[in-house]
Amino acid sequence: MTPTVEVVSSTADTSRPPSNVSPLSNSELPQLDQPLPSGEAKGEAVQAMFDTIAPRYDLVNRIMTFRLDVRWRRIAIESLGLPKGAVLVDLATGTGDFCRELSEHGYRSIGADFSFGMLDAARTAEPLVQGDGMSLPFPDASVDGVTCGFALRNFVDLDRVFAELARITRPGGRIALLDASSPDNPVAKAGHSVYFGKVVPFIGGVLSNKDAYGYLPRSLAYLPPREELLAGLVSVGFSNANHEQLTLGAAQLITATRD
Ligand SMILES: C[S@@+](CC[C@H](N)C(=O)[O-])C[C@H]1O[C@@H](n2cnc3c(N)ncnc32)[C@H](O)[C@@H]1O
Repeated sequence: MTPTVEVVSSTADTSRPPSNVSPLSNSELPQLDQPLPSGEAKGEAVQAMFDTIAPRYDLVNRIMTFRLDVRWRRIAIESLGLPKGAVLVDLATGTGDFCRELSEHGYRSIGADFSFGMLDAARTAEPLVQGDGMSLPFPDASVDGVTCGFALRNFVDLDRVFAELARITRPGGRIALLDASSPDNPVAKAGHSVYFGKVVPFIGGVLSNKDAYGYLPRSLAYLPPREELLAGLVSVGFSNANHEQLTLGAAQLITATRD
């Protein structure tokens, strides 16, 4: 299988300064006492939030997931089943964790994210581009697959993102999408709700930003039920769509093959 992406030029919006040069004010972040934003306001709030938390994102992530996020990314990559050398886009790459892990598995990758702050804090040798998941800067059928970690709930229009995944993935290509979740088991669900709803915002507030980490548990409400996620992928041209709960349902992994 020959990777078909040869040149990817950065679409970085240089008019927007990195967050460490011009920190954003807290009023641009999703506020705890306000309803969750939607439409354009959601996109702006999410971008501002990740620009703001980027410098300590990795630290807080590792602490609050007890490094399980690393394990979940590995499981997602192993589920791809693509040959070594395959080229993938890591959508919403953030600080590039998936790109680093993909390299270790013998894959090539390009990270895409709309937060310049996150890209600026990334630690990966793989190429990165600034771009929106709803309009990706890649040609049709140009990649062997797509990974995406913990971002589905942040997209303004998930159907448009799914359509973009179908557009850029070649027939037979694979996608693996990870996100947070809530356990099905009532006991695990109660424990998770205390941890995710109270402990995580506390840790995130102390180490990083209270508003941003208060938004995190609330943002789970944006995620459609798993049946709807799978149906959305099938409707844009994926098959073998599969959903798996990881670590008692603290995370979910969705995989599919492009028709
Ligand atoms: C929780 S972070 C996940 C980062 C990384 N994938 C990981 O596994 O740690 C979510 C990322 O999604 C990005 N994001 C959210 N909406 C986006 C969009 N519409 N287009 C591109 N990136 C987006 C954010 O900027 C942020 O870096």
